[in-house]
Amino acid sequence: MSAAAAGTWKLGDVTVNRMGFGAMRITANPDRSVAIGVLRRAVELGVNHIDTAAFYVSPGGTLRVGEGPVRYANELIREALAPYPEGLVITTKVGPGEDSDRGFYHATTAAELRTQVETNLRQLGVDCLDVVNLRIMKKPGADSIADRFGALADMRDAGLIRQLGVSNIRADHVDEALAIAPVVCVQNSYAIDLRGDEDALIKLCAERDIAYVPFFAIAGGSREDGAATNHSDAIQAIADKHGATAQQVRLAWTLHQSPNVLAIPGTGNPAHLEENIAAGTLHLSPEELATLT
Ligand SMILES: NC(=O)c1ccc[n+]([C@@H]2O[C@H](COP(=O)([O-])OP(=O)(O)OC[C@H]3O[C@@H](n4cnc5c(N)ncnc54)[C@H](OP(=O)(O)O)[C@@H]3O)[C@@H](O)[C@H]2O)c1
Repeated sequence: MSAAAAGTWKLGDVTVNRMGFGAMRITANPDRSVAIGVLRRAVELGVNHIDTAAFYVSPGGTLRVGEGPVRYANELIREALAPYPEGLVITTKVGPGEDSDRGFYHATTAAELRTQVETNLRQLGVDCLDVVNLRIMKKPGADSIADRFGALADMRDAGLIRQLGVSNIRADHVDEALAIAPVVCVQNSYAIDLRGDEDALIKLCAERDIAYVPFFAIAGGSREDGAATNHSDAIQAIADKHGATAQQVRLAWTLHQSPNVLAIPGTGNPAHLEENIAAGTLHLSPEELATLT
C-alpha cells in the first residue's frame, strides 16, 4: 500500500502523490506520540504532500485555559519529520490567525500576513515555506484578494515562500491572483454531499494546470464536526461491494473527479490513516460514479 497508487500531480515545480495528508486533526489526541506516529507512518506510506496551518492547535486554541501544553500541528510535524525528507511538500495557509490581544482574527494587512508567515517558518523550522495558501473569508461584493495575495507574492519574491495558492475562494479570485503571481493550488471544501459550484472550478483549475485540493472530502456536510455518518444508501452499497468503508468511497470519489484533484484527508487515528491511503487504490466504475454523482 502506497500513497503513490493514486498517481501523481505536478504542483508547480514539484511532483507530489495525489494522496496526501491534512494535519488539522492531529492535535486532537492529548497523547503527542500518537500524532507523531501518524505523521511518520504517513510519510512511510509515501505521503509527500502535507497540509497544515499555524492555527491548527489542540482543542481550545492557544488562548485556552486548560491542562497540558498546547499542541501545534506545525510543531508536531517538525518533531515527527525534521530534518524533512527530500521531496516532502508542506503546504500551509495564512489569513486566519490568533494573537493574545484579539484572539482569533483574519489578517487584512501585509504586516499581519508577514507575521503569520514568520510564525509558520519558526514553527516548522524552515527558512522558506514550500506552499502558502491565502485563506479568505468570502465577502460578497467587496472581497478582492489582490492586496493580500500581492503581499504574499512579495514574500515569495523575498524568498520566504516557494509557491502560492488560494483557499475558500471563487473562480474569479483565481484569475485575480494569476494576474499577480503563479497559483499552484486552490483549496476549497468539496465532497459528494458538499459540491456547491465546485465542479466548474475544478475544471477551470485543470485548464490552468492548478491543483484542486478539497477539504472535508470525508467529513462532507458535517464539516468541522468530523466524519459524516449519514451516508446515502448508494455510498454504503458501493462500499460494501468493494469491501471498503463509506469514508474510503467518499475519498476515492473526489480523486475520480479530475486528475488535478489532490486528497488531504485529515485524521489523528492510525487505523484511519491506513484506510485513507488504501482508498487511493479504490477504482470506481463509470456506473458507480454515475450512481454516486
Ligand atoms: N483551507 C481550509 O479552510 C481548510 C478547512 C478545513 C480543513 N482543511 C484541511 O483539510 C484537511 C481535511 O479536512 P478535515 O480533516 O476537516 O476533514 P476530512 O478529512 O474530510 O475528515 C476528517 C474527519 O473524518 C475522520 N476520519 C478521517 N479518516 C477517516 C476514516 N478512514 N474513517 C472514519 N473517519 C475518518 C476524522 O476523525 P479521526 O481523526 O478520528 O480519524 C475527522 O473527524 C484538514 O486536515 C486540513 O489540513 C483546510
